[in-house]
Amino acid sequence: MNYKKAMTTDFSEWLAQFACDFDKQFEAILNDELSSDSRLHRAMRYALLGGGKRIRPALCTLVAGDNANPSVVARAAMAVEAVHTYSLVHDDLPAMDDDCLRRGRATTHVEFDEATAILCGDALLTYAFELLATLDVPAEQRVELVRVLSRAAGHNGMVLGQQLDIDATSQSISFSDVQAIHQLKTTALITAAVQIGAVIGGHNAADWGEFAEKIGMLFQVVDDILDATADSRQLGKTAGKDNAADKPTAVSVLGLDEARDYAAQLCEAAKSNLQQLGVDSSSPTNLMPEFLLGRSF
Ligand code: IPE
Ligand code: IPE
Ligand code: MG
Ligand code: MG
Ligand code: MG
Repeated sequence: MNYKKAMTTDFSEWLAQFACDFDKQFEAILNDELSSDSRLHRAMRYALLGGGKRIRPALCTLVAGDNANPSVVARAAMAVEAVHTYSLVHDDLPAMDDDCLRRGRATTHVEFDEATAILCGDALLTYAFELLATLDVPAEQRVELVRVLSRAAGHNGMVLGQQLDIDATSQSISFSDVQAIHQLKTTALITAAVQIGAVIGGHNAADWGEFAEKIGMLFQVVDDILDATADSRQLGKTAGKDNAADKPTAVSVLGLDEARDYAAQLCEAAKSNLQQLGVDSSSPTNLMPEFLLGRSF
């Protein structure tokens, strides 16, 4: 499928098709590489293949564009999704958000056990870098991709965001503190997906920075809104968790109406970033901000 040129007016339809194709490719690779019947491999396959919107792989693929080698883009997108999936497996652990439902199924530590979920997360993170290190691109590009993903995922990125998120529990913090947490725990990895797509597509990754920051923040603000407004069946994860756990979020700090206004502003800003980037008007990328604003799961 020619993802960039595919004409569509419905991003959710486009994304469903993308996710289906991506999952097939992912499963084929995992059947080769995670083929043992060990508890670890079973847990990794369970976590990786149990649904998921595949937003980060979609972003990576859309930004890379049509001139990039499709199998290189797919493998790099899988690396980002492996990091994302590890972050979910660990986020759900009893010592963190203590959640039993993810992607409409039991969380990995509930389906397997806590030790296996910890090891599964460790292995998914490591596997992501193996995927990047073995990409069929020039060595300097491989190093750049490893640099981008490790920086986004690590101690100055997502992991730091998760630490600050835990530290902020039951604390009264400002909106800019919430924004700083969201930037680290969620936007950093979404930005990495965009940058990795840009590097593979031969674009200037810095040009895409503003857009990535806006949709990353939009993504987490809407996640906070959905936690407060949707039900668990719709979300495929436990609704109302943030309030129950006394987590500062965009909703708890701004209130629902203002959080929605903020999300709408981020959506408009992301759309104007795309215009400035000169993204082809037929590209589904243009529909992504509205989709992220209006998503219901
Ligand atoms: C959930 O991410 C975690 C956040 C960063 C908010 P997604 O909403 O992308 O989760 P999946 O991959 O679709 O399950
Ligand atoms: C998670 O944020 C961000 C991650 C790095 C996984 P949340 O804790 O809000 O994500 P959900 O709501 O459990 O998916
Ligand atoms: Mg969390
Ligand atoms: Mg959580
Ligand atoms: Mg959440």
